[in-house]
Amino acid sequence: MGADQLDLLYPEHLRTSMRRADQALGAAGFDALVIHAGRAPVQFLDDQEYPFKPNPHFKAWVPVVDTPHCVLIHRPGDRPKLLFHQPSDYWHKPSPIPQESWTRELSIVPVQSSAETAGHWAKLGKVAFVGPPEAFGDAEREAVNPPELLTRLHYERALKTDYEIECMRRANALGARGHVAALSAFLDGKSEYGAHLAYLDACSQREEEMPYNNIVAYNEHAAILHYQRLERTAPQPRLSLLLDAGAQYRGYAADITRSHAAAPGAYADLITELERAQRALCAEIVPGRDYRDVHLSAHRALGDLLHRVGLTNLPGQAAMERGVTSVFFPHGIGHLLGLQVHDVGGVFADAAGHERKRPEGHPYLRLTRLLEPGVVVTVEPGIYFIDSLLAAAHADARREHIDWTLAAALKPYGGIRIEDNVVTTAAGPENLTRDAFSRLSA
Ligand code: GLY
Ligand code: MN
Ligand code: MN
Repeated sequence: MGADQLDLLYPEHLRTSMRRADQALGAAGFDALVIHAGRAPVQFLDDQEYPFKPNPHFKAWVPVVDTPHCVLIHRPGDRPKLLFHQPSDYWHKPSPIPQESWTRELSIVPVQSSAETAGHWAKLGKVAFVGPPEAFGDAEREAVNPPELLTRLHYERALKTDYEIECMRRANALGARGHVAALSAFLDGKSEYGAHLAYLDACSQREEEMPYNNIVAYNEHAAILHYQRLERTAPQPRLSLLLDAGAQYRGYAADITRSHAAAPGAYADLITELERAQRALCAEIVPGRDYRDVHLSAHRALGDLLHRVGLTNLPGQAAMERGVTSVFFPHGIGHLLGLQVHDVGGVFADAAGHERKRPEGHPYLRLTRLLEPGVVVTVEPGIYFIDSLLAAAHADARREHIDWTLAAALKPYGGIRIEDNVVTTAAGPENLTRDAFSRLSA
């Protein structure tokens, strides 16, 4: 699909955003919506800014991700208006007014200051303001982020438009390129830091453009779920690479994990086993499926896997019930993905925000919803050798059910995670990640 296709999809996406906003405004009793893009926070005692991360509500409407202080105004029945911040500033290079084809769908008004911006919503009636509270003044304070309105928008955001899915296809294409480059760097003997730089270069994205910090974990670092350091020297020997890294396209995220062995052996075999289980779990991403059941299905499948390879003497269901699978797989099977890497609204039962409870004993599951066409999720089973969790199991009844010699032999490899981004469709799962890797190698 070329750039023109994305341009064709945007008008329908915008209409969907407007329709959802109209309903949410009506339900919450507001006349108009003002969404602030936010601004870059300034460091304490300094004049240096942290990287700017736009308000996800803002980038849901317009693909403007690098320009703080912009504002989107929507009043039902009117053409949406984008107030595009263009200060007179000789310290920085102001963003040029966008000219791409999507701009034909809205009115774009250059603004220079906050005072000028506020003038645009003075006569709109009862306005709901959405954005970081500090972006608004005292006059707006009362109506910033009204909960009922936000809850409705968050619930509906799980249902992606065709435009959004295409953005995520492209984010996956970028991420797949990065993964191939980082794996080469690992195999060439580069450090975690070197693999990280290779990743960014292949995606042509700055670190701050990544949807989350790259997790580039060699050897036992792969046991740290959100490992954040980047060692400058490569360990000897290099045994394993766990790479959890995505990319963004027009503000939409990819969230991809691959695990690699430096050489054949028990760890490489475990990757092959997990790969098979992960593919089977991806096949469960279909309309009507309760995502909580996908999570429990993952525990059973991983229990069977751990039993097959000899890490536990209990078969899947029993391994899950006795808490053995949670020793090796201590996080959720996945989450909503979109404008944020962990997109909001994962535990809502409906637009009013009633909660769908997590299964007992699974506090880290971020998504409990029923799957519907358009819902994009990650599927990311993992098997890790984590000191603290192994020690806890060794100290209780689970001690009898784990092969401690095999666990010790695999500990230097850290762990494995395999993570794909999958779209729920009426025709079955669309795996954005595997499709992206396949296209690269075609
Ligand atoms: N990269 C964070 C996650 O997989 O949820
Ligand atoms: Mn994830
Ligand atoms: Mn991830």
